[in-house]
Amino acid sequence: MNLRRNIIFSLLGCLFFNCNGIYGESSLAIIPQPVKVERLSGFYLFSAKSYFSISPDQNELKEILNPFTGLYKPHTLIVKSENKADKQSIRLELLSQNDNTLGDEGYRLRIEPKGVRLEANKEAGIFYGLQTLMQLLPADYNGTDKINIPCVSILDYPRFQWRGLLLDVSRHFFSKEFLKRYIDQMAKYKYNILQLHLTDDQGWRIQIDALPALTEKGAWRAERVGRFFRIEPQQSGEPATEGGFYTKADMREIIEYAKQRKVLILPEIEMPGHSLAAIVAYPGLSCTGEQYRVNVGNNFYGKEDNALCVGNEAVFEYVDKVLEEVADLFPSPYIHIGGDECFKGFWQECPKCQKRIEEEGLKNLHELQSYFIKRVQKIAQSKGKQIIGWDEILEGGLAPGAIVTSWRGINGGIAAARKNHQVIMSPMDYCYLDLYQGEPSVEPKTYSMCLLSDCYNYEPVPENVDPYYILGGQGNLWTESVPAGRHAEYMTWPRAFALAETFWSAKDVRDWKSFIPRMEQHMKRLDASGVNYAKSVYNVIVSPVKDAEGKMTHIELGAEIEGTEIYYTFDETDPDRYSKRYEGIPLSIPKSAETIRCITYYKDKIGKVVSLSLDELAKRRPIHRYNIVFD
Ligand code: ACM
Ligand code: ZN
Repeated sequence: MNLRRNIIFSLLGCLFFNCNGIYGESSLAIIPQPVKVERLSGFYLFSAKSYFSISPDQNELKEILNPFTGLYKPHTLIVKSENKADKQSIRLELLSQNDNTLGDEGYRLRIEPKGVRLEANKEAGIFYGLQTLMQLLPADYNGTDKINIPCVSILDYPRFQWRGLLLDVSRHFFSKEFLKRYIDQMAKYKYNILQLHLTDDQGWRIQIDALPALTEKGAWRAERVGRFFRIEPQQSGEPATEGGFYTKADMREIIEYAKQRKVLILPEIEMPGHSLAAIVAYPGLSCTGEQYRVNVGNNFYGKEDNALCVGNEAVFEYVDKVLEEVADLFPSPYIHIGGDECFKGFWQECPKCQKRIEEEGLKNLHELQSYFIKRVQKIAQSKGKQIIGWDEILEGGLAPGAIVTSWRGINGGIAAARKNHQVIMSPMDYCYLDLYQGEPSVEPKTYSMCLLSDCYNYEPVPENVDPYYILGGQGNLWTESVPAGRHAEYMTWPRAFALAETFWSAKDVRDWKSFIPRMEQHMKRLDASGVNYAKSVYNVIVSPVKDAEGKMTHIELGAEIEGTEIYYTFDETDPDRYSKRYEGIPLSIPKSAETIRCITYYKDKIGKVVSLSLDELAKRRPIHRYNIVFD
C-alpha cells in the first residue's frame, strides 16, 4: 500500500549553495555540532521527486514527519510505505537491533548520491536526524529548485538528557500561539524540556477547577508599561485587565504540540514564596490574611506577604488540590515547585508558623521551609510525581529524591550531587537569558551579564562531581523586562544556539571559533522564519580599568569575536573605520574628555555606535569575561 502525505518544507539558511552553485565543505553549519561529521564525495540531489521512504511495519514514523508539515514551505514531499527504497528516497529506519552508541535520542544519517538513510533506535533519534537534515537545506529554498546536498555521514547523540529552556509566563503572559512558535525553534536545536514558570507574584496562568479564583483574580493585574521594578502599584478602584491564563484545553494543546516535537512541558508551580497571585485569590493562604493586589512589577520583596503560611493546614490542602490537577494535566513525571527567594519575615511574626516550628522541633526558618518542601514532596509523590526545586530547597535539608536546579552559581548543584541527588545546571552567569548579552548601554534595560560566549563556554559538569548526577542544563528566560514575544526571541537567540551546543554536543567538538560562522548561518534561518534575535555579539564592550582606590585610570575595549576591529573617539564625534583603531592596549583618558564613542566592524557586520559618558563609565564595574582578541 502506498501511503501519501504532503510535507511542506521551509528551507532555512543557504548553507551549501552559493551564488555560483558551488558547494563548499566549510558551509556545513549544523547546530548543535554533531558528535561526528564525515564529508563523503558527491552530492545528493534534493528535488520535487525526493520522498520519505518508510518500511510498512514502521508506519508510526509517519507521525514523526507531522511537525515538518507547514513549517517547511512550499515544497511538497511524499511519504511512501515500501520495503525497498530507491534513488530519490530519504529512508527512515528504526533499528531492529539496539545500537548502544545511539541511546534513545541518537541517530546515524548517511547522505549519498544514491539516497539518504536515517536510522535510530527510537523515534526521537529519527526526529533529531530530520532536524539535522533540514539544516543541510538552504534557508531561501523556494520549493522548486533542485538542491545538491553534500554527501556526509553523521553520527550524533546528546551529551546530556536534560536540554531545557525556561519561559516565565507569569511576569508577562505569552499566548498559546507564541509558545508553539517558541517550541518550533527549540525543536530545531534539539532542546527537549520547556519549563513553564506558570505562577508568581505577577500572575497565575493555569486553570485549576477546584480553585477558580486563581485565574479569575490571580491572572489579572493593572495595565502598566515601563521599567518593571519602578512602576506604580495597582491603585484602589483601578481595573485589573492585563494578563491571561491557559485553560486546560489550551495547555493540552501545547503539551501535545510540544510532544510531537520531542519537547516535554515541565510545569512550575512556585511555592512557598513568589505566591502573591494565589494569595490575592485566597488571602487566607498567607500569614497575614491581608487582601493584596496582583503585583504589577513594582518592588515587593518583604513589603507584601507573598509567602504561603506554613503553620496553616489549609495551605497544604490548597497545595494538594493544585498538584492534583497539575499532575493530572501534565504528563511530565516531574513538577517544579520553585522554592526560591522566599521572604521569611512574615513567618517570623506569625503565631501559626511559630507554633509549627515548636511542635516539629525545627531550629530556624530554613528548617521551616524545608519542612514545607518535604510535605509538598510527599503530596507530589502521592500523585505519582517527583519534585524539582531551585537550589534554596537544599537549605534546612533536602527532601528525599528531590531534583535540584542550580541557579545561584554551581555550588547548589555540587552540594546536591554530593548528596546523590540529580541536578539540572542553570547557573545565572552562564545560563540566564534575561541578563544583558552585550554592552549594556545599547541594550534594553536589564541587569548583570550573560554573554553569548559565557553560554558557549559553560561546562555543565563541575570538577570533582560524579557526572552521573548531572542530568544536563537549562537556559532560563525570566520576563520581568520582557513584555512581548519579539523581545523574548531577542533575548533567547543566539544565546540558545550556544546553550544547545553546550547541552547536546560532545565536549571535544565544541569550538567557539567554528560556532561563530555556524551561528551566522543560523541567524539567516531566523531571518527566514521571521524570528527575532540579538546581534549584540558584534558590539564593543567598554570596561573601566581602575586603580587601587577605585579611580578609573584607563579604558579597556573588547569584543567577543576574534577579528573584530574597534574604532573610537573622545572628541564627541561618531567614529568610523577612519577613526583611531583600538590596538589592545587600554586607553589613557585625554585631558578634558567627557565621552568615549566606539564602533566595531567584523566582516560585513557593523556594531552599534556606543557612546558613554566617562562619569558613568567610571561608576561601572569592569567586565572581564569577554574575549579580548586583537590582530
Ligand atoms: C531564580 O532565578 N530566582 C530561580
Ligand atoms: Zn504563618
